[in-house]
Amino acid sequence: MPIMNVNTLELFSRSPEQTRRVGMRLGGLLQSGDLVCLQGDLGAGKTTLVQGLAQGWGSLDDVSSPTFMLVNIYRRPDANCLFHLDSYRIESIPEAEELDLDNMLMQGPLVVEWPERLKAILPAANLWIQLTYMAEEHRSMLFSASGEHHLHLLADFRRTVIGAV
Ligand SMILES: Nc1ncnc2c1ncn2[C@@H]1O[C@H](COP(=O)(O)OP(=O)(O)OP(=O)(O)O)[C@@H](O)[C@H]1O
Ligand SMILES: [Mg+2]
Repeated sequence: MPIMNVNTLELFSRSPEQTRRVGMRLGGLLQSGDLVCLQGDLGAGKTTLVQGLAQGWGSLDDVSSPTFMLVNIYRRPDANCLFHLDSYRIESIPEAEELDLDNMLMQGPLVVEWPERLKAILPAANLWIQLTYMAEEHRSMLFSASGEHHLHLLADFRRTVIGAV
């Protein structure tokens, strides 16, 4: 579990359940305005991680790939929302602009799959997670934060998962 520097953290998962547990730890820290970008190939584990994120954040809703809707909204009993955007099928930047990401971020955390497709319009301040397939049930997750707020989020997450700063 190498700690590369204060802006990055690499974790390894050996099962979908472990990936969900990592997501739960991070989900418990998420607040409105937090942007979490999940980059990784098909089947890398992005949606699996979101299942943990939503559960840790406090939603009881089922998490699925936003196939028809582009954006899934998960609700919490206190009526807060977590937004889950899958950019895989977004065909143009104007189409993405219509989604009004800033408005979502004012209302809750936003998690984006295939964020590299939206780089032109995504806020530069974010927590970026690169998921990589290593072997059948083995994935690496490289977390990197940009901007002071998300650096604090990463520091809190690091404390939560490995107990060190
Ligand atoms: N350690 C692991 N972490 C996450 N998923 C794993 C792991 N090991 C095996 N898997 C499997 O890999 C698949 C990951 O699928 P998932 O839908 O999360 O990927 P994705 O990155 O969202 O893909 P897509 O780009 O198609 O949306 C699932 O079938 C899951 O069970
Ligand atoms: Mg997915």
